[in-house]
Amino acid sequence: MSDGLEGVVTAETVLSSVDGAAGRLVIRGRSLDEIAGRMSFEAVVRLLFEGFFADLPEESGLRRRLGAARAEVFRDIAALDRRLTTLTDIESLRAYTARFADGDDLDTALRLLAAPAVFTPAMVRVRRGLQPLAPDPTLGQAADTLRMLTGGAANAGRAAALDTYLVTVCDHGLAASTFAARIVASTRAGLTSAVLAGLSGLKGPLHGGAPGPVIAMLDAIGSSERAEGWMTAALARGERLMGFGHRIYRVRDPRADALKAALKRLDGGDPARLALAETVERTALALLHARRPERRLDTNVEFYTALLLEALGFPPDAFTNVFAMGRTAGWIAHAREQLATGRLIRPEARYVGPTPRAA
Ligand code: COA
Repeated sequence: MSDGLEGVVTAETVLSSVDGAAGRLVIRGRSLDEIAGRMSFEAVVRLLFEGFFADLPEESGLRRRLGAARAEVFRDIAALDRRLTTLTDIESLRAYTARFADGDDLDTALRLLAAPAVFTPAMVRVRRGLQPLAPDPTLGQAADTLRMLTGGAANAGRAAALDTYLVTVCDHGLAASTFAARIVASTRAGLTSAVLAGLSGLKGPLHGGAPGPVIAMLDAIGSSERAEGWMTAALARGERLMGFGHRIYRVRDPRADALKAALKRLDGGDPARLALAETVERTALALLHARRPERRLDTNVEFYTALLLEALGFPPDAFTNVFAMGRTAGWIAHAREQLATGRLIRPEARYVGPTPRAA
């Protein structure tokens, strides 16, 4: 038995490969640095979906159809149940998405991809007492999401930064949420059910819920000179430092570098915030190394995710939804692959409870 299924291979995939020792991520034959900052989200969705939908259009057609899906999803926003605002952002996105019918076709897939892009800015605005803004189907998903968030046209640099983020997190092997999506897909439940399983898997702080707490940690530390004392005390209390460590990577997560580069390219970034983050990162790595020299813990994707999404104007509570915006592409591709190549997933558990008494 392997605790947490560590090292266990449960599927063959053409979608992505995570080499934890080399710190290398490959998405459908391309390394992360070939696609992050170079391809649009739509182009990467097309790359992931290739071979899994018979009617998959070219990139420009996919962009048009995804824009139309955003417009269709927005029609439901008017009826957005205000009670959803009492839930956390990821819980409310999951509740909103649960109203979609199940299906295995491209229209269902595009609706599921459009949902977080439309819902997340709408929810942020409703929480701020503002009206949700309708999508502009002619824009790419990243530029349109930022426009719906802020009300003004996103400049090309900011749209490119969000595109880089969405591409960077679009797929990552059998992460907990992706495995959950594949399990549900293996029952032939449909793409909506698989994506709902993915959303549930993404919610906790050990997977997609970490970037919000990264901001809370930076805010609590406040200034570079407090970094060492604050983190030493947190570790002494048995807490984990958010944004560090990974089940598979034994070196620096390559996604952290892609996002740090995108952050540095962004106009109007806050140099003092970046300087604080760099000090916190350096100090955290030194403290983690001093505690467990034999277990290499390095910076993961969530650390610079937090800083990039903050710089783009998303509130920390919405970060997991933005992660879902990118990762839904991977969940859908994995669900389709599971259906095409896999069987019902049904492992076994070793029973360690009491045995029935003899009659
Ligand atoms: N801060 C402090 N200690 C950490 C740590 C962190 N960020 N990450 C791991 N450790 C410690 C663990 O507590 C464990 O110590 P123990 O054996 O004394 O309990 C040891 O390092 C080994 O942990 P590991 O086996 O690597 O953890 P995992 O594979 O079960 O979990 C994570 C991986 C990502 C869940 C874990 O590193 C973590 O909780 N990180 C913080 C949350 C985070 O950033 N999540 C986003 C992931 S992309």
